[in-house]
Amino acid sequence: MRDALGSVQSVLVLGATSDIAAATVRALVGRRARRVLLAARNPDQALALAEELRVLGADADVIAFDARATAAHEELARAAFDRLGDIDVVLVAFGTLGADVGLASDPAAIAAVLETNFVGAASAIVPIARRMVDQGHGTIVVLSSVAGERARKSNFVYGASKAGLDAFSQGLGDALAATGVTVTVVRPGFVHTKMTAGLRPAPLSTTPEAVAAAIVDGLARRSEIVWTPRLLRVVMSLLRHLPRALFRRLPV
Ligand SMILES: NC(=O)c1ccc[n+]([C@@H]2O[C@H](COP(=O)([O-])OP(=O)(O)OC[C@H]3O[C@@H](n4cnc5c(N)ncnc54)[C@H](OP(=O)(O)O)[C@@H]3O)[C@@H](O)[C@H]2O)c1
Repeated sequence: MRDALGSVQSVLVLGATSDIAAATVRALVGRRARRVLLAARNPDQALALAEELRVLGADADVIAFDARATAAHEELARAAFDRLGDIDVVLVAFGTLGADVGLASDPAAIAAVLETNFVGAASAIVPIARRMVDQGHGTIVVLSSVAGERARKSNFVYGASKAGLDAFSQGLGDALAATGVTVTVVRPGFVHTKMTAGLRPAPLSTTPEAVAAAIVDGLARRSEIVWTPRLLRVVMSLLRHLPRALFRRLPV
């Protein structure tokens, strides 16, 4: 349960080796989050972050989680609530860019992006959402992307996966209205993380720490949508409504 000042006390991170996740959980622990469970595909790689969070005063632990292992997601939710008691925030931060996944890719590569970013996210979130409804509170923070606003020809598979995830998250938020559970959809632009290492930065590129600050602010305001940086809301609105003949000509 959030404390009397509205600060988050318990956090489950799905995809804890994500750079954005690490920055966000550090920021939350800096603001009095005291129980953290880091779920990662390779839990050993989350041990150093868990240790760092312990030094900062949190009770932090790690657990195995693979977005594509959907048969294990119900058990993951049960184990997470067993360990944390109640959960104020689940941060859904895993994802794969599949930077070169497109027209020339084999079906398995296409499926891997969609299974991770969309199918795996929906499958992992629902059993957690159900338990949040039972406890009567909680916020599900979902890392969507500006890429989901309008799929671009250079990464339409990733864009489609994020469009699906974004629509799922918004619909879930509506389904949860009046339960005490809310959904915050986060739409970052280009963030300098290991996901984008070696890629040419897009305009308005930002850092994991700036995204983390936007998430913390969104949690305090109980925002339903967080654009980061904020100006992207305007930019993406223009791009979304650009006639297709023009959009196709853009080098995006
Ligand atoms: N960076 C950007 O420009 C940007 C922009 C908009 C949105 N986002 C979104 O923000 C989120 C965090 O991205 P990031 O930039 O922090 O990237 P990141 O540092 O590369 O983190 C992505 C994480 O996803 C995990 N992951 C991938 N497949 C998984 C699976 N099957 N099961 C469990 N975990 C899996 C990876 O775990 P491993 O360590 O095991 O590989 C990795 O830790 C993602 O959803 C991304 O799409 C990023």
